[in-house]
Amino acid sequence: MYLRKKEGISRAVLVLVPFTALWLATLLGRAQEKPAAPAAANGAAQSEAKQTFESVCAACHGLDARGSERGPDVATRQEAVQKTDAELGQILANGKPASGMPSFAGLGPERLSALVSYIRSLQGRGKEAVLPGDPGKGKSLFYGKAKCAECHSVAGQGGFFASDLTSSGRLGLSGLRAKIVAPDADLDPRRGLVRVVLADGTELTGAVRNESNFSLQLQSFDGTFHLLNKSDLRSQSYVGATGMPRDYESSLSPDEVNDVISYLLRSVAQDPQPVAKPAGGDDN
Ligand code: HEC
Ligand code: HEC
Repeated sequence: MYLRKKEGISRAVLVLVPFTALWLATLLGRAQEKPAAPAAANGAAQSEAKQTFESVCAACHGLDARGSERGPDVATRQEAVQKTDAELGQILANGKPASGMPSFAGLGPERLSALVSYIRSLQGRGKEAVLPGDPGKGKSLFYGKAKCAECHSVAGQGGFFASDLTSSGRLGLSGLRAKIVAPDADLDPRRGLVRVVLADGTELTGAVRNESNFSLQLQSFDGTFHLLNKSDLRSQSYVGATGMPRDYESSLSPDEVNDVISYLLRSVAQDPQPVAKPAGGDDN
């Protein structure tokens, strides 16, 4: 994850502008859709997705989505669980004809999006019962008082210093809690933040985004990239911290921590990125 992040960061910045535009367009599209698609319609879409899965997909993936000889497990296999909603949606829309997965583009974006949510529910995500708090309050905390969004993004909205948390729901309730209240607990000592001292005595702390025998690219908290020659460094050492604030257990109340966890658990299942542009308001 951390490695992938290093490679991804510059690309992330490059695509940020078009992505933000896309995200805004999506948001506007969804805002217009909302009144026409109340909660009941959403429930109907879910039960329709269940039917589609059982009559079409189960032949290859099994009724419980745990796979058969004709198709892989999409309920518990990590490859499937870790894919984002957008990636799953792409697979459903395009299929993988060469390996036996048909294209289901004909179902249309709404149904594909409902199928993705249904797969998520089979993966055990987004169930009401497992939420320890209020995801709506958690979202406000994430983008407000708790400042998570200064470093992290969800669905493209937020900061780029640390990893995108759109699919962090996969860490589960206790995994998320541990990452939030005790982020440095099981840190690999050769990972995390690095502190360097330059020849003139200046100290810099940040995340290593690129390293070769001769150079080091460090990103400091303010987002700035520093390209350093190793021959100019007096010292380079691991700080023993991820860079994630260590005081959430005291700066947030237990309820607030639960709210943030609920937001992250829920964001995947309930706020899916549409798999394609909404098709002109037709709900069927
Ligand atoms: C004819 C058999 C078949 C049918 C029907 C089928 N699939 Fe698949 N599906 C496959 C195979 C085979 C793969 C593996 C493709 C590969 O090798 O990457 C796959 C892959 C997938 C994946 C990606 C899994 C991963 O880990 O990347 C998802 C998600 C998926 N299918 C969902 C569905 C859904 C939802 C339906 C019904 C709308 C469906 N499939 C219908 C055979 C099928
Ligand atoms: C000052 C920057 C910063 C802030 C603020 C911050 N984090 Fe982090 N967080 C990090 C860094 C750095 C890591 C470790 C490397 C990574 O995942 O990018 C991390 C890791 C995580 C992880 C583990 C991700 C994974 O896939 O292993 C979670 C979950 C997380 N943070 C949640 C939060 C939440 C929730 C908040 C707000 C309550 C928050 N963070 C605030 C910097 C920050």
